[in-house]
Amino acid sequence: MKAFTFATSQSIICEAGAAARLAEICQQQGYQSVMFVTDPGIKQLGLHQGALDSFDKANMAVSIFSDVKADPPESVVLEAINIAKEANVDAIIGFGGGSSMDVAKIVALLSHPECKQELADIYGVGNAKGKRLPLIQVPTTAGTGSEVTQVAIVTTGETTKMGAVTPLFLPDFAILDADLTMGLPPHVTAATGVDAMVHAIEAYTSKDKKNPMSDLMAKEGLRLMAGSIQTATHKGTNKKAREEMLLGAMLAGQAFANSPVAAVHALAYPLGGHFHIPHGLSNSLVLPHVMRFNLNDAATLYAELAPIIFPKENFTGTDIEISTKLVELIEALIKDLGLPTTLREMDIEESFLPKLAEDAMLQTRLLVNNPTDVTLEDALTIYQAAY
Ligand SMILES: NC(=O)c1ccc[n+]([C@@H]2O[C@H](COP(=O)([O-])OP(=O)(O)OC[C@H]3O[C@@H](n4cnc5c(N)ncnc54)[C@H](O)[C@@H]3O)[C@@H](O)[C@H]2O)c1
Ligand SMILES: [Fe+2]
Repeated sequence: MKAFTFATSQSIICEAGAAARLAEICQQQGYQSVMFVTDPGIKQLGLHQGALDSFDKANMAVSIFSDVKADPPESVVLEAINIAKEANVDAIIGFGGGSSMDVAKIVALLSHPECKQELADIYGVGNAKGKRLPLIQVPTTAGTGSEVTQVAIVTTGETTKMGAVTPLFLPDFAILDADLTMGLPPHVTAATGVDAMVHAIEAYTSKDKKNPMSDLMAKEGLRLMAGSIQTATHKGTNKKAREEMLLGAMLAGQAFANSPVAAVHALAYPLGGHFHIPHGLSNSLVLPHVMRFNLNDAATLYAELAPIIFPKENFTGTDIEISTKLVELIEALIKDLGLPTTLREMDIEESFLPKLAEDAMLQTRLLVNNPTDVTLEDALTIYQAAY
């Protein structure tokens, strides 16, 4: 058997309503002064109120940093670190989507009293050193899986993002409380859900690090999410669908944390960078076209996933035929979710596609995982197909 490693968060609590037990969990751990890291949308919705009340009742000190921006820039991260240091907090709670959880990871690391590193030092793989403050992650989107990944992504320039990758970013607790996701708007549910499905698909076809455990997580994550994404999008208050999306997204997160994503994400990033298209939607726009491009090398694996994603369909024929049908069904699913399906609709000039292709080629960290090698010409052809 090929050797592999699999790392994930220390404890996972999957329980509707668990956010209201946050103070109890913190007390059990002996934390005394915690900081919530969240964004203005969540603050306005009051999603964290139940959790805050629990700290009130327990007479515990709480600070709140609620200025996280989507695709967080460095300035936001630095501000949050300063506030955590000033308040002398001893534990960090990331409460929100991938943006809030990613900021929380870095704050937990760089606000540790013994920390000697700067933000710029930790970009890349394995560069973060030392200890972090205790970290609890509470996702409010069923999407990034950041609660179980070793990655934090920061926007470093106008259009560039950097990732820091370290096992230190795996939290002490990932808390999956589906009640928090009940009000997630349809377009966010759809886009973040497709992002999570892409995590599972790309983990399952990842070139070198795919392993028996990531395969298990990817397949079960896809089964749950494919069965629930339409209900969660169109009937947002369906609790079972919300629970399955949240658990499925976490499983997909565990899969890609150990068997990394590839060309779909590599081609999605420049769309987010240049046009501020949300991460999930960027993935959705290129997904079918990257899958078609990968067909010759990934057909067997896609064919294994087809009946898991669409259990009611009758798949027959060669792996290529089954995979081709799978891609068509995914395209139909994306349409049903109400997501835009072409780059044209996103007001992108066709003349900009070569620049996108050039930028996608910079994502070498991701491209090496793709089942088929991607050249600059290939990247352009994929964007053209997505146009
Ligand atoms: N660390 C990782 O492993 C990883 C993986 C993929 C992406 N990312 C990063 O994650 C970020 C994207 O995260 P995201 O897609 O979760 O979105 P997000 O965190 O940027 O949030 C998007 C919007 O959804 C709102 N929102 C969140 N939860 C809500 C709820 N329950 N109800 C109503 N509104 C809600 C937020 O207020 C915000 O306006 C990007 O920065 C991306 O680069 C990280
Ligand atoms: Fe993603």
